[in-house]
Amino acid sequence: MEDIRPVTIMIFGASGDLTRRKLIPALYSLFQKDRLPGIRIVGTSRSEYSDAGFRDHLLKGIQEHSPDTYQAESWEEFSRRIHYQNGNLNDLADYRRLAETLTGLEDQQANRLYYLAISPEFYKQTIINLGKSGLARQADSADAPWRHMIIEKPFGRNLQTARELNQVIHEVFTEDQVYRIDHYLGKETAQNILFFRFANTIFEPVWNRRYIDNVQITVAESVDVGHRAGYYDKAGILRDMFQNHLLQLLSLVAMEAPASFNADAIRNERVKLLQSIRPLKREDSVAGQYSGYCSAEGVSENSRTPTFAAVKMFVDNWRWKGVPFYLRSGKSLKRKATEITIEFQRPPHLMFGLSNPEEITPNILSICIQPDEGMHLKFQAKEPDSEQNMRPVEMEFHYQRFFEGTKLPGAYERLLSEAIAGDPSLFTRSDAIETAWSLMDPLIQSWEDQSTDDLAEYQPGTWGPKEAVSLLAKTGHYWHMNCGLHEGCIEALPSRK
Ligand code: BG6
Repeated sequence: MEDIRPVTIMIFGASGDLTRRKLIPALYSLFQKDRLPGIRIVGTSRSEYSDAGFRDHLLKGIQEHSPDTYQAESWEEFSRRIHYQNGNLNDLADYRRLAETLTGLEDQQANRLYYLAISPEFYKQTIINLGKSGLARQADSADAPWRHMIIEKPFGRNLQTARELNQVIHEVFTEDQVYRIDHYLGKETAQNILFFRFANTIFEPVWNRRYIDNVQITVAESVDVGHRAGYYDKAGILRDMFQNHLLQLLSLVAMEAPASFNADAIRNERVKLLQSIRPLKREDSVAGQYSGYCSAEGVSENSRTPTFAAVKMFVDNWRWKGVPFYLRSGKSLKRKATEITIEFQRPPHLMFGLSNPEEITPNILSICIQPDEGMHLKFQAKEPDSEQNMRPVEMEFHYQRFFEGTKLPGAYERLLSEAIAGDPSLFTRSDAIETAWSLMDPLIQSWEDQSTDDLAEYQPGTWGPKEAVSLLAKTGHYWHMNCGLHEGCIEALPSRK
């Protein structure tokens, strides 16, 4: 039965950047699509705002970050549902005041979603106070109003802190009340990986070690650390991007087919995949830092924090044994691009006047997560009017072209609507977070122990340090970038015939 109760969204850290830049634009867009008829939003943080002042502050965010969605009439209607009450996260009395405010605003029993858009150092105390004030309490019966909590990343800084945080959470909330965000799972194209693999029959039979030579995942960013240096310098690329986003993409591309499209079935398979990843080796990784990083504001002068990483991984199961998965990500790279490349094996025997199968470009499937969302399949075609020359050509699918006129919803829009609908499929379960940390922790540790020795420098605007190219060259591989380019991206590649 559809739950048609109104929903109150209570945002902690409401004066912050995330609320203005992502959460309110996402909720406003859902409201415009009539997907949140009974919504009410209550923001809280230490800043002093009146309701009107808070609404104005949010409107500026809409005008700055998603101006094309703004319509005076719908904003007027939406913003009437926004309220503000200041409070101190560490003060239990403020939570009790909030509880009273919520009850006063809700004219009938409402579901509630608590969004922790706050700095991680406040997570535990906020959760404890949600418990003590009774805000987290959810009656046992299935038709009672629910209480869900969304918690942002970073979720811990290592396995131990993630475990401690999970323990605190589980003292107050049951696991099915908790929605740990990894916004990569909310990206339309990341979700499409499962549809592509399991709603078609032609790809899955070749999706394994018998046909796939290697898999690559690149999450490249052109931006530098910007104003987040204070956080970033303590985190580094493995904590910031690998432990969460890259491992999530890897799990989607490599997991087994779940029996149903049900949250637990999907999340079980994702965890099983993470558990099958072989412990990472220091020598299978490259750490880099872009030149000029240390002079950014907020970065310590001699910082050895890596802003780039390339890591070779193996999935030890029947499907993937022996197939290398190469993952790389970095700041200040050539361009923003998130791409998954599946490189298929070359033909076992060649005619066409070629003696060496290496001379042929392999079939490559590129799944473009962003920004030019779509897919490319590269294969060989005979050059016209030649005897036996061939050339790699591409079949392409671009969301923008195919679903013309449809705007891809942002990740936060999708994730918020799933959390409100009570579907945790696109969120990370406690066991998945802990498994991901247990995988990354030893590598992070080994980098931190020896980081001064071999941190490779790279120039901003390139594809990272040359050591990342050598990492693949050892096994005769090279990085691919096909999305948005027709001929592949060759800047960082060793020369090939
Ligand atoms: C965040 C990281 O989780 O993801 C940032 O903390 C990074 O450092 C961002 O810039 C990238 O997200 P997207 O959606 O722009 O690829």
